[in-house]
Amino acid sequence: MEFALTAEHEQIREAAYKFGQNVIVPSVGELDRQHTSDPETLKKLGEAGLLGLGIPAKWGGTDTDYISVGIACEELERADSTARVVMSVHVGLHCMTMMQWGTEEQCAKWLPDLATGKKIGAFGLTEPNAGSDAASMKTTARREGDEYVLNGEKTWISLADYADQFLVIARLAETDAKAPYAAFIVERDRPGFSSRAIKGKLGVRAGNTGQIFFDNVRIPASNMIGQEGDGFKVAMSALDHGRYTVAAGAVGIITACMDACCKYVNERSVQGEVIGKKQLVQQMIAKMARGRDIGRLLYYQVGWMKNTGKRHTREVSMAKWVNCEAAFEAANNAVEIHGAYGYCDEFPVERYFRNSRGAMIYEGTHEIHTIMQAEYALGYREDKPIARTLPTFPFA
Ligand code: CAA
Repeated sequence: MEFALTAEHEQIREAAYKFGQNVIVPSVGELDRQHTSDPETLKKLGEAGLLGLGIPAKWGGTDTDYISVGIACEELERADSTARVVMSVHVGLHCMTMMQWGTEEQCAKWLPDLATGKKIGAFGLTEPNAGSDAASMKTTARREGDEYVLNGEKTWISLADYADQFLVIARLAETDAKAPYAAFIVERDRPGFSSRAIKGKLGVRAGNTGQIFFDNVRIPASNMIGQEGDGFKVAMSALDHGRYTVAAGAVGIITACMDACCKYVNERSVQGEVIGKKQLVQQMIAKMARGRDIGRLLYYQVGWMKNTGKRHTREVSMAKWVNCEAAFEAANNAVEIHGAYGYCDEFPVERYFRNSRGAMIYEGTHEIHTIMQAEYALGYREDKPIARTLPTFPFA
């Protein structure tokens, strides 16, 4: 068993940290206050090479492993959740799922532009009446000759207004098959496609989230990822990747809370001593350190399982569940430590509090992961090997 990160991992951590602190942090407070996202961030993430992490060089990527993706997510979310969300949907849900389920031709066609940030990818599973119960989605795909025709809508779609293409899961129309779903790449410029931003979110306010609509959108049959009937498995394996990035990012929120709190408690004095000397404050800081260290072990393990091609649905659910809870606890305690200052946006911790709450809902609610873990423990659920895995690392 090897616990050390490689020199390359450390370089990626340093690069992502600097990107977050130099590019994201200076403007995020104002963007968040204005509920505005900056599409330039996507371009800059691409230019910095971060959108090519975890993608083989033959498809335009940086030929780095999946642990690198997690490390970048951690450091980006240390700056702001919105930067990590881009990694989650573009690298995790879109590119890695294409690498798992797409053909060689499909990967060669789409990944080079995605890995360099020339094109941005997103993911469409959730619908107004299909969230946790993903299998009740209503969006349909009807085969007509060499095309599929999509109708329906998806909601809570990160980068809805910015992405160039979406990995969309739809129900195959006019079939009684047991698994009547398929996954498709739908490009934004297809006639009948439209998007609309969701306003008034509690958190992730500097990020774009919205709805996407399909009104008789025609796509070539060659845009199908996997086969007819694979759609639900494609969706679930996309979540294996997305949840990984969320779990890693949650550690970044904890670190950001520690950054802010360790500074504040050494400056703020009560009764003649800095509050860092108060044991009740120390207890909250210690819990943050606990969450950070446990969280890293959990997501590094999942990264290793991805590298070695092992199924990791249970482990990634655990990492996402534990880390997001720990991040919310850390952010809540960070507000507590800052007192009234924690309740206004003069300090960043109220933003961490709002952002960390969202991660307990998206990519599987707190309740979904609780139930999944109970079902694994009770033997009601087990992870069987699956036919299609990510390319293992080192890449061929
Ligand atoms: N990889 C590959 N195949 C998988 C899989 C995985 N990770 N997970 C399940 N499957 C397969 C199973 O093996 C099974 O195949 P067979 O029928 O051949 O045995 C099939 O898929 C059905 O699996 P389950 O029996 O596990 O399905 P279920 O109905 O019990 O799943 C659930 C229930 C786990 C709760 C699932 O519905 C779920 O995860 N719900 C939460 C959905 C979610 O997280 N939504 C948030 C999306 S985030 C978003 O959309 C916003 C954004 O852009 C960020």
